[in-house]
Formats: sequence, C-alpha cells, structure tokens
Amino acid sequence: MNITLLMPFIYFGRLIRFIERMSETSPRIYPSASRNEEPILEVLKQFLGHQDKIKVFEVAAGTGQHAKAFATHFSSASWEPTEYDESLLNDIKLHCKNMKNVKPPQKVDISKNVEDWDYSPQYLGKYDVGLCINMIHISPIECTHGLFSNMSKLLAYGGLLFTYGPYAVDGVISPQSNVDFHNSLKSRNPAWGLKDIKFLRKISKENGLKLEMVVDMPSNNKTLVFRRLPPSSESDKLLLTLPNRNGHGVELKEGCNGRL
Ligand SMILES: C[S@@+](CC[C@H](N)C(=O)[O-])C[C@H]1O[C@@H](n2cnc3c(N)ncnc32)[C@H](O)[C@@H]1O
Repeated sequence: MNITLLMPFIYFGRLIRFIERMSETSPRIYPSASRNEEPILEVLKQFLGHQDKIKVFEVAAGTGQHAKAFATHFSSASWEPTEYDESLLNDIKLHCKNMKNVKPPQKVDISKNVEDWDYSPQYLGKYDVGLCINMIHISPIECTHGLFSNMSKLLAYGGLLFTYGPYAVDGVISPQSNVDFHNSLKSRNPAWGLKDIKFLRKISKENGLKLEMVVDMPSNNKTLVFRRLPPSSESDKLLLTLPNRNGHGVELKEGCNGRL
C-alpha cells in the first residue's frame, strides 16, 4: 500500500494523542469562572478577611479554578473541593497542584445525604465555610435540597454558606438576559432553571440556616450568604452580627437584603 495514502490517518492519530497528553497536563478553563473569580473573592474577603485557619467545603468545584484562586488568597485555610462530574477531578488536581492547603478533590453528588457519600468529609459539623458557585440553577431541585440539608450537617454553628449565581427575586426574573438564560436552561433540562431567593430562604430555614445577606454581583448575578444557626437560637427574633468593610459588626434583621 502507498504510504502517502496513510499519512492523513497517521497525522490524525498523532494529533489525538497530542490532545490527550495536553488534557492530562493542562486543566480546562471555564471563562465564566475566570470572570467571576475576582468579584466573588472580594465578597469572601469582606466576610472572612480577619479569620485564620478556616475550613472550607466546596460543592460543584468545576475545574478547580476558584479553589486555586481562593485557597491562594486564604493561604492558611484548609480547602476541600468536591465535584459531581468525575472527569473534572483531574482538572481540579492540576489547577491546585502543589497547593498544600487544598485537599485532593472528591466526587460528591450533593443531592445525596452525606451519610451515603463514598467518602467521609474531614470535619463533619465543623466547617467554617461552604461554597457553591453556579450550581443551583443548572441542576435539578434535589441538588438544592441536598446542598442545604448537607450543609446543615457539615457547617459548624455560625458557619457560612456562600452561593453564587443568577436568581429570581419575589417571582420575577430580570433582566431579559436572565429570562432568556432561564428559558434556555429549561429547554436543555426541564429540571433546571433559576430558583427564587424566597424559596431558597425557606429551604435554608427548614435546614437550620438563615439567609443573612444578598450581595449584587456583576452580570446580574448575586451572592447569597447563609448562616447555620445554633439549635437553641430563636432564629426569628435574633439579630445577627456580620462583619462590615472595616471588620466591625453590622446588625441585620432577618431577611434584610443588603449590599456590601
Ligand atoms: C456551571 S458548572 C459550575 C462549576 C464551578 N463551580 C464554576 O463556577 O466554574 C455547574 C457544576 O455543577 C455540578 N453539579 C451538577 N450536578 C451536581 C450534583 N448532583 N452534585 C454536585 N455537583 C453537581 C456540575 O458537575 C458542574 O461542575
């Protein structure tokens, strides 16, 4: 057989092997994670700026870009990234290579109870922070329920859960770009779509957490900050203390929506 006829196949095979080798060593980059990394870090700094040695549990860590950026900033934090999609675990490993304060990524389906996961989290009931970026709208409602019920078991009393993404407010999705996004999510999977903050507040309350702050973010997203309440607290009457820009306490009534 004429070898020149085989050349395109040989080159194609080499190209495939090259791409495979590259994906083993170069982690994937999500452009959205690159864009929102800095604004989310600013919010985390506002809330956690003065805390040392925080224990963080991240749900739906994606490529691990956020884990890398945030654990680099909070260098004395212990970061535990988890992800449902097993194919992303290697990306997280590569992004967080040589980072001593980031644990090896673990597969977690957040819709399942922590008792049924294949691995045991390091600090049941002792995490200071839970983080879930851009998952709630792009997963079935079971994941949202699982997020709050599992966080109620993972977080320490007083621990904070940060969720980031686009949300509906009092039954209204705005602006039009978020309506279009919601409709496109629904057309991809009817179980997906933007969730209402009021609804999230209700589920959080059912799980012993309280929505303490709504922070407006670029591109019509928001960061929601929930706190795990101690069992004895009369949560409806409590005034809670949040750090403000200067690190001094700001008292907020339940449901108070605010910007930093
Ligand atoms: C839009 S991506 C966001 C990833 C990352 N947080 C970021 O901002 O780049 C949504 C993520 O939710 C994850 N996810 C979907 N279902 C999940 C589940 N049942 N448990 C945990 N994560 C899930 C997906 O695997 C995916 O990585």
